[in-house]
Amino acid sequence: MRILTGIQPSGILHIGNYFGAIKPALDLQGEGEVFLFLADLHALTSLHDGPQVRETIRSAAVDLLACGLDPERTTFWRQSQVSYHAELMWILSTVTPMGLMERCVAYKDKVVRGIDANVGLFTYPILQAADIMAYDADAVPVGQDQKQHLEVTRDIAVKINEAFGAGTLKAPEPRISAAVGVVPGLDGAKMSKSYNNTIDLFMEEKALRKRVMAIRTDSTPLEAPKDPDGSLVVDLYRLFATPGEVEEMRAAFRAGGTGYGHFKQQLFERIHAYFAPMRERRAGILARPGYVDEVLEEGARRARAAAAPVMERVRRAVGLAG
Ligand code: ADP
Ligand code: TRP
Repeated sequence: MRILTGIQPSGILHIGNYFGAIKPALDLQGEGEVFLFLADLHALTSLHDGPQVRETIRSAAVDLLACGLDPERTTFWRQSQVSYHAELMWILSTVTPMGLMERCVAYKDKVVRGIDANVGLFTYPILQAADIMAYDADAVPVGQDQKQHLEVTRDIAVKINEAFGAGTLKAPEPRISAAVGVVPGLDGAKMSKSYNNTIDLFMEEKALRKRVMAIRTDSTPLEAPKDPDGSLVVDLYRLFATPGEVEEMRAAFRAGGTGYGHFKQQLFERIHAYFAPMRERRAGILARPGYVDEVLEEGARRARAAAAPVMERVRRAVGLAG
């Protein structure tokens, strides 16, 4: 069973990314052969600043290793270091109907949000299909927002197999992580770096406390009972506490006599403690110059070796190789 997923390095990682994408992917280590890459070519569709791109890739790599990505067990590399991704994308684009891309909502959403409508953004799902099928991946864990891209991948697999013979490429199975759902941000909207409502993974203690204190609450006075349903503080606490502890907080809400500041303090302490071991590991990684590059180079070697036979099969099928 080959499990593959990609994470687009496009900004500072937040706890929505962690619970929605990073943790589910890392939890799979040990379940099968895990392939995890930084989708840095995809990041170029929205970031056009060389130094910023370089820094974002680097910090995403450091943060993923700090979160527990084990490079012994997991093949971890940068998409741009394995040229098969871009090559396969081109071949796939020649069998992908325009209409299939035109139906994709991620492109439309981004354009509505004011991101430039470049061709790369439009063909983004074809590169994603190549990322997956270059490795004959069986299962692809992704968040709900990526479901359509997995459907597109399967549609492209059908097209290429119709054109060049069954078995040219393998259609993957999506694994949609429904367990966590959407992590809300400070204002109650989906936590997203585009909405400026995030709690970042490795914030300094003071900055973290400030963010937690900024979580939106209503104006119920301290003495009054409070409604735990729909409270952002309770919803976020749920990610870090046991069901029993969540129940205790809910009961304290209903009992009254405790202000929101107190509950936020509890949440802050939990978040800080939860990421403490990862913060420590992160400091260790940062203290080893060259370590991250070594990991990514070794990962790219392993990735190339896995994709090479698939690419050879595709080149033969389409007539580019003997
Ligand atoms: P952002 O919205 O901050 O730009 P991305 O779109 O780069 O985040 O998402 C990267 C990954 O993190 C995706 O797999 C996405 O499903 C997941 N993710 C992002 N925000 C959340 C959230 N608020 N809750 C759950 N998962 C999220
Ligand atoms: N589009 C994905 C996201 O924004 C990242 C991604 C790129 C990906 N290529 C992939 C995910 C291949 C899974 C498989 O989260």
